[in-house]
Amino acid sequence: MNNTDLKNIKHQKSLDVYKIREDFPILETLVRGKPLVYLDNSATTQKPRCVIERMTRYYELENANVHRGVHRLSEIASQEYENAREVVREFLNAESVEEIIFVRGTTEAINLVANTFGKSFIKEGDEIIISEMEHHSNIVPWQILCEEKKAKLKIIPFNDKGELILSEFEKLISDKTKFVSIVHISNSLGTINPVKKIIDIAHHYEIPVLIDGAQSIMHTEIDVQDLGCDFFVFSGHKLFGPTGIGILYGKKNILEKLPPYQGGGDMIKSVTFEKTIYNDLPWKFEAGTPNIVGAIGLSEAIKYVKSIGYESITVYENELLEYATNRLKQIPSLRIIGEASTKGPIISFIIENIHPHDIGTILDFEGIAIRTGHHCTQPVMKHFNIPATARASFTFYNTKEEIDKLVEGIQKVIKVFS
Ligand code: ALA
Repeated sequence: MNNTDLKNIKHQKSLDVYKIREDFPILETLVRGKPLVYLDNSATTQKPRCVIERMTRYYELENANVHRGVHRLSEIASQEYENAREVVREFLNAESVEEIIFVRGTTEAINLVANTFGKSFIKEGDEIIISEMEHHSNIVPWQILCEEKKAKLKIIPFNDKGELILSEFEKLISDKTKFVSIVHISNSLGTINPVKKIIDIAHHYEIPVLIDGAQSIMHTEIDVQDLGCDFFVFSGHKLFGPTGIGILYGKKNILEKLPPYQGGGDMIKSVTFEKTIYNDLPWKFEAGTPNIVGAIGLSEAIKYVKSIGYESITVYENELLEYATNRLKQIPSLRIIGEASTKGPIISFIIENIHPHDIGTILDFEGIAIRTGHHCTQPVMKHFNIPATARASFTFYNTKEEIDKLVEGIQKVIKVFS
């Protein structure tokens, strides 16, 4: 393919960012009297009008509890809730809806797996492998489990560019290794990990793998069957949906072997004081009234993202990442933390002699929202021997003009401290 062909393909797949921005009411607002420049998408994404309206419509016209009443509204709510599950199943290309569990978010999904898999399959002396770049939510649940079971947590290191050292991964595997849990895209480094390769290696030794998709779900098309992962988890609010809803995908044959996570209504078939029979999948893991409107809002968000298309999203976000990286690199006192060869649109950086919180505070006065701190990845900060970074994270509604404003803002920050 020659350059013109490539350009044509790029052109065909390009998205109309200004039209997309009209779908997000918050992007039209002012913050501290300045137009909002929202560059904190790794923390949470903004919501398109269709999601907001769908959730309002549910509360205005359809609200009832699910799986309980015989009345019409309960029927509608149950139908919409289960339809949402099918939307998620299709989105992830899972084999069946039994493999799609609604949870509160990524954190709850990982805790569910650590707890139930741990109860059934982890014993004293066993080993669990995670990596040095995990979010705390993919460290602490495994630490708790290891403490309880006297098992051992092993850590795949990363190099100074922020890339996992896969040769070390193979060395960590032993006949005691019972589980591998790895982040797909690092929230603080932006690294896209070669998860398919990691899954293949682990499966060669018959070790199940969980992929933390909290940061990848908004940037990358996920096909769980193609990946081959045993579990895949993500949060709705990072996919332009509401907070308080997330997904645990698990292979049916493994989920069937796990005990319930919480007890209560809906996760049972029958209860007597002598014995309780648990419900079938997926409800076995959904005790209590679920986040019905959250599930419906998430399914609307999925439909919205699909209407834009991941191919266009990836091409556009890569352009933003390249543009922002080049512009930021021109600032002499600025150092980017995380320079892996494959990255999502996430840039962590530090500036000589200026604390990241000061960067964030001054940018806020310009209406620019970024995140500062350790990003719930303290081991990553330790690797680079820094307390925190400033982080700009982009998505398909951001523009190059916004990146220019970020750069101008950073130049103001440097001036204040010079
Ligand atoms: N884990 C989210 C972040 O990286 C909250 O900001």
